[in-house]
Amino acid sequence: MERLDKFVSGSGSYTRSQVKTLLKAGQITVDGAVERDGSRKIDPQTQTIALNGQVLGGRRRVVVMLNKPAGFVTATEDPVEKTVMELLPPQMRHLDLKPVGRLDKATEGLLLFTNDGDLLHRLISPKKEIPKVYYARHEGRAEEADVRAFREGIRLRDGTVCLPAVLEPLGPGESAITLREGKYHQVRRMMASRNMTVTYLERRREGALELGELPRGQVRELTEGEIALLEGEETGDFLPETEDK
Ligand code: URA
Repeated sequence: MERLDKFVSGSGSYTRSQVKTLLKAGQITVDGAVERDGSRKIDPQTQTIALNGQVLGGRRRVVVMLNKPAGFVTATEDPVEKTVMELLPPQMRHLDLKPVGRLDKATEGLLLFTNDGDLLHRLISPKKEIPKVYYARHEGRAEEADVRAFREGIRLRDGTVCLPAVLEPLGPGESAITLREGKYHQVRRMMASRNMTVTYLERRREGALELGELPRGQVRELTEGEIALLEGEETGDFLPETEDK
């Protein structure tokens, strides 16, 4: 059972106040009878809810990409810090979106949100091993020995061993890093283990999805085609085997 107003807003892209107006105007029916009380509990499995005669089919699945700015924590709430939820525009606030995985407070770039719990769990499952590409600026210079160490699997300073990853030097103090797991502060810790302190970090790609030209702080909804791409994501075969070839 859930509240009628919540169900209606979740099944289309309606804000709470738009739903209020629809209810007031008598445009919502429950089993054919006009219902003006948004707090009424309904069961979408057994009852038919309609808007102007059109049956509402339940909650629309939404996946959203954010270009996260620094300074926001990835959490649905926090007593002290600003959260990424504050970056969602008002018309998306009622959709019950949750962040997929996590970016550190200081890290920028691609962060997904969804209201589909199954999809969320599939995407963050370590079994899925979706490759994620980061751009880092760092102290020092990435050398061939660092590239090899990443390919073999970095041992972090606390002894944790990481899966093989790709380190691609882009210039002095600039590298691209591709990971297929998501340990706490992983890029920063991998780079630190090679004496390269990360000074700036941005996630640019997740599987087939690229951040592209999305401006910092902005969100956009993924198309069904992009969601299908994300769901079909297999382990990238561009990642090296553990053995040095
Ligand atoms: N690695 C990090 O160190 N931080 C992130 O936010 C993501 C990956």
